[in-house]
Amino acid sequence: MPNIPLFKSKIDNKDFKVMNESLKTGWLTHGKNNLIFEKNFAKYIGTKFAISMNSCTSALECSLKIIKKKGEVIIPSWTWVSTANAVINTGNKPVFADVEINSRNLTAEEIKKKITKKTIAVIVVHYSGLPCDMKKITELVKRKKINLIEDSAETLGATYKKKQTGSFGTGCFSFFPTKNITTTEGGMLTTNNEKHYNEIKKLIAHGINKDKKKFFWYRVADLPGHNFRLPNHLAALGNSQLKKLNKFNLARRKIAKQYDMFFNKLGSPFEVQIVKKNFTHSYQMYSVLVKEKRNSLLKFLKKNGIDASVHFDPPLHKQNYLKKYSTSLKNTEILSKEILTLPIYPDLSKKNLNFIFQKIKQWSKNNK
Ligand SMILES: Cc1ncc(COP(=O)(O)O)c(C=O)c1O
Repeated sequence: MPNIPLFKSKIDNKDFKVMNESLKTGWLTHGKNNLIFEKNFAKYIGTKFAISMNSCTSALECSLKIIKKKGEVIIPSWTWVSTANAVINTGNKPVFADVEINSRNLTAEEIKKKITKKTIAVIVVHYSGLPCDMKKITELVKRKKINLIEDSAETLGATYKKKQTGSFGTGCFSFFPTKNITTTEGGMLTTNNEKHYNEIKKLIAHGINKDKKKFFWYRVADLPGHNFRLPNHLAALGNSQLKKLNKFNLARRKIAKQYDMFFNKLGSPFEVQIVKKNFTHSYQMYSVLVKEKRNSLLKFLKKNGIDASVHFDPPLHKQNYLKKYSTSLKNTEILSKEILTLPIYPDLSKKNLNFIFQKIKQWSKNNK
């Protein structure tokens, strides 16, 4: 029986070589490779600046810290806990909004319902690699004068009207091993705002202002910063991975297409996600709706060595420590009962993909 993981990173000899070379220089923390990685990443996303750091969660915290007010932050409940944790850990209040079933994303209409005088920002999460409908959302935040943050942890290389996610607002990316590229742990923040860029550079490195140097030994701290740095050799890995991103995403898209064709042929109880015109999907995850007996299929796949899962059950507003912010979120609750995430990664073999199809067909036949 095969053992098919849900996610698998692809680190090759070139990646190991650049990491080794970096380590051999003896410079073990934030260094030259960070600057190279940041420059190339900003170019790829189409923003003026990019700042590498130790996680997307840190990037989310920084994106909230640069807003000089505290208040309410609108977020989906349909996301990983980091999105809410960043809001709470920066002294703000999360306000949950519902998502659309097909895209699994926030919409301008749902965000609008949650805006109050206390709203300081909205964090959109581009779920699983599909961008939110950014035209209406950017128009809304502009009109309402609220900050736009994009949790693009799952969306590296996905576009809305040919523009990369992470270039509409403050972009926050993750390089956790399950993501489209990896630095093991790691993240990146993207922005076009120079003032924000300068402040975040200080925030991630103990608040030290590198430009204020009366003497060469001086270290002037401007603000209470963090240590959110990404080490030099991991930045080298990130830069090497970035060169392969388009190839990785092409492989992911090919696999997703095969899943779509398979489920469309199989029909009920499966419903595939429709990717509309003007959107490209980076398929950090492949998700399908199973309208009946989802849990039975999950258990069956697990028993057969296929690591299927659910992102996310429970959704955030059902998590114990977040229940106090809870509200009725009809679509989010439907998704948490019906969604299924299936293995997808560049090296998923045809043989293993066919095995997944065969097992799902078998389950379907037995559950007619
Ligand atoms: C939507 C979303 N936001 C934030 C994160 C957190 O990323 P990191 O582990 O890099 O902090 C993840 C990763 O799982 C995610 O999927």
